[in-house]
Amino acid sequence: MNIVILAAGMGKRMNSDLPKVLHALAGKPMLGHVLDTARVLSPSRIVVVYGHGGEQVPTLLASADVAWAKQDPQLGTGHAVIQAVGLLDESVPTLVLYGDVPLTAPATLAGLMRAAGQDKLGLLTVDLPDPSGYGRIVRGLPGSGDASSSSVQPAKLAGRGPILRIVEHKDADEAIRRIGEVNTGILVAPTVALKRWLAALSNDNAQKEYYLTDIVAMAVAEGMPVVGAQPAAVHETLGVNSKSQLAELERIFQRQFAQTLLDAGVGLADPSRLDVRGKLIVGRDCFIDVNCVFEGEVVLGDRVRIGANCVLKDARIETGTDILPMCHIDQAVVGKGSRIGPYSRLRPGTVLGEENHVGNFVEMKNTRTASHSKANHLAYVGDAVIGARVNIGAGTITCNYDGVNKHQTVIEDDAFIGSDTQLVAPVTVGKGATLGAGTTLTRDAPAGELTISRAKQVTVPGWKRPIKITPK
Ligand code: UD1
Ligand code: CA
Repeated sequence: MNIVILAAGMGKRMNSDLPKVLHALAGKPMLGHVLDTARVLSPSRIVVVYGHGGEQVPTLLASADVAWAKQDPQLGTGHAVIQAVGLLDESVPTLVLYGDVPLTAPATLAGLMRAAGQDKLGLLTVDLPDPSGYGRIVRGLPGSGDASSSSVQPAKLAGRGPILRIVEHKDADEAIRRIGEVNTGILVAPTVALKRWLAALSNDNAQKEYYLTDIVAMAVAEGMPVVGAQPAAVHETLGVNSKSQLAELERIFQRQFAQTLLDAGVGLADPSRLDVRGKLIVGRDCFIDVNCVFEGEVVLGDRVRIGANCVLKDARIETGTDILPMCHIDQAVVGKGSRIGPYSRLRPGTVLGEENHVGNFVEMKNTRTASHSKANHLAYVGDAVIGARVNIGAGTITCNYDGVNKHQTVIEDDAFIGSDTQLVAPVTVGKGATLGAGTTLTRDAPAGELTISRAKQVTVPGWKRPIKITPK
């Protein structure tokens, strides 16, 4: 099949400068979700009709398998499809999707394709308790339809008459407005017939637009069967016209994702308090506490536990590691059996070895450690290479930046860094060296020795505290 995705509309009610289809759902533009769904169906061609927001849309979502057709000005859904027809393969049907309807399941579209086959017009319709605003599906009397088309309709539609036409809400009278079955906008048509119908569209209607929906009456007039199919869930057909509808679909998406995690055996303290904005790959017997956010690609090994209120982005946490509450981990790797947090921040380029401990208010950036090293309290470790069994005392800081350049700190195996130490990089602490508390290290510390830089402690005999002077 061909797939045409309509994405030219402006989305006035989003109240935003960003084109509507670029607004993110689960961290990805809505149009990106629709493109992913389209790809699952292995179409021979994908054409996106864009317009509002100019080149931002094709620039952001450029891909070798997508062709772009510009619609400017935007004169309606029929006019939008006309912009794409030159790019379509006439030997296969054309499926029309909307760039602002992000949650349609591939299985629902496959069902619609099956119902329509190669030679029928197929419409995805849905029954809504409040159908206002939508195009209504007008059907004839039951039994008056084409027998071949009704036999492929899903059970839900059994007993309904044949589809005759679609009437837009703004063009509908009271009787038609009472119809609860609406057009989702998603349809499939034989491509040659589609081109013929589009060429015959007029804009003689309430909105002075070229309605794609007018092709339905044209198909009926030609005697082509029109079949309806319905989605497994109503939310699959919900479009986004406002931030509030976007937020609603976000919750639906997240709840479904949480369910797939639960089904795969992941423990979740509360499936309604988890946000995954990307890809989350989880091993066996993991547990995720409330209010965690996962972005980009995050991989959790077996038996990993993530405490409450953690944000992980493009990170890998290896087997058996505990991430305690309130951690922020971005482009970092944590080795097996480690304990991070509470309140740790691991920044890009941090790669920790096995059984490391990183505690509260410790920030690490572009730092590698070997196994069994610790920085348990209040430290900044940046651009460092740290060996095994190193202990970094509270308040330690790598002074990695001279105001212009970044420099490296090397701390070799078994070194002990006393509290409140400044390591002025570039500098190396040798194997097994000890730094006394309060040291400002500006030259390398030799292996195995105690190095200390500290003013000598003195006691001033008889010193008195100042007394308050009272003005006269
Ligand atoms: C359309 C349908 C209506 C259906 C509803 C479902 C028509 C005439 N009406 O109405 O039957 O119930 O969707 O939501 O088709 N678009 C363009 N170019 C345009 C106009 C629209 O690309 O010139 C795109 C929009 O970006 C959007 C989609 O087409 O993705 C639907 O447009 P919208 O204006 O929301 O259509 P409705 O009036 O809601
Ligand atoms: Ca709409």
